[in-house]
Amino acid sequence: MSRTADLLLGAVARLRAAGVADPVRDARLLLAHALGIGADRLTLHLADPVPTAAQALFQAAVTARAARQPLSQITGKRLFWGRNFAVTADVLDPRPETETLIAAALKQPFATALDLGTGSGAILLTVLAERPQARGLGVDLSPAALGVAQRNAQALGLADRAEFRHSDWFAAIPERFDLILSNPPYIGAGEIPSLSPEVRDWEPRAALVPEGDDGSGLAAYRKIIGAAPDHLSFGGALMVEIGASQGRAVGALMAQAGLHHIQVLPDMDGRDRVVRATRPGPASV
Ligand SMILES: C[S@@+](CC[C@H](N)C(=O)[O-])C[C@H]1O[C@@H](n2cnc3c(N)ncnc32)[C@H](O)[C@@H]1O
Repeated sequence: MSRTADLLLGAVARLRAAGVADPVRDARLLLAHALGIGADRLTLHLADPVPTAAQALFQAAVTARAARQPLSQITGKRLFWGRNFAVTADVLDPRPETETLIAAALKQPFATALDLGTGSGAILLTVLAERPQARGLGVDLSPAALGVAQRNAQALGLADRAEFRHSDWFAAIPERFDLILSNPPYIGAGEIPSLSPEVRDWEPRAALVPEGDDGSGLAAYRKIIGAAPDHLSFGGALMVEIGASQGRAVGALMAQAGLHHIQVLPDMDGRDRVVRATRPGPASV
C-alpha cells in the first residue's frame, strides 16, 4: 500500500506535466476527496498507508484532472458564498466573480427574485438562503442544469421557496419580480480558442457563448434587457453579470429599455463585473 506522501508527490508531477496551474493544491484536494477527509486534515496523514479503494479513486481523479477536467466536476462540488453546491458537466462551475452579483443583490430589498440561466442554481439559492422571507424562480434552457439546481435546492433546504422552470429566457415567465438576476453566457465565439482547457473543453458551451452571437457576446443581454421591464415590479431591479469590457454596451441597452439609475459595479479585482438598473415607479413613467 502506498503512503499518502508518495501518492501526493506522484500526482503533483503528473498534474504539473499536464499544465495544471496549481498542481500542489489540486493534488491535495483530490487526495482529501478520495480519502473522504477535509484538505486541512491531510498533513496529519502524510505517513499513513492509503487504502486500495481510495488509491484507485485518487488515481482516476488525477487522470481526469490531468485531462484538464475542472476540479469541481471531479469532486462534484463547489463552495459559493459559503455554501456547497453540487456541480456536474451540465452546469457552469460557479465563479468567485459571481459573488459580486450576490453582494449587489443583497443590498436591494426584495420579496421575489428571478434568476435567468440558473445553471447550478448558485445565484438564486444564495440570495434566497440570505433572505429567508423571499421566494424565487430559476429558469434555464438546459433540463439537465435544472435537475442539478433542484438537487441543490433540496440539499440546502430551500426547495419550498425555490421553483425551477424550463424557459428560453422570459418565454415561459408571465410573472413580475422585485429582483431579476442573471449571469448569462457572454463570451464571443471567437474568444473560445483562447480560454483555458478547463473552460473550453469541459464546460457547457451554452453556458459560455450566447445563441445568435455576433462576436460581441452581447446577444443574451439584448434579449434579457429588452424584455426585463415587462417582468419587473415598479421600483424593481435588474442586475446582470458582465465581461470586463461590456459595461458601457450593457448600460446603453438598459437605458434604451427605459430603466433608470444605471450603475456599473466592479469586482474584487477592480474589473467591471455587474450592471444594475431599476424600473421606475408609476409616478415617473
Ligand atoms: C454563464 S451560465 C450561468 C450559470 C449560473 N447562473 C452561475 O452563475 O453559475 C449561463 C446559463 O444560462 C443558460 N442559458 C443559455 N441560454 C439560455 C436561454 N436562451 N434561456 C435560458 N437559459 C439559458 C445556460 O444553460 C447556463 O446554465
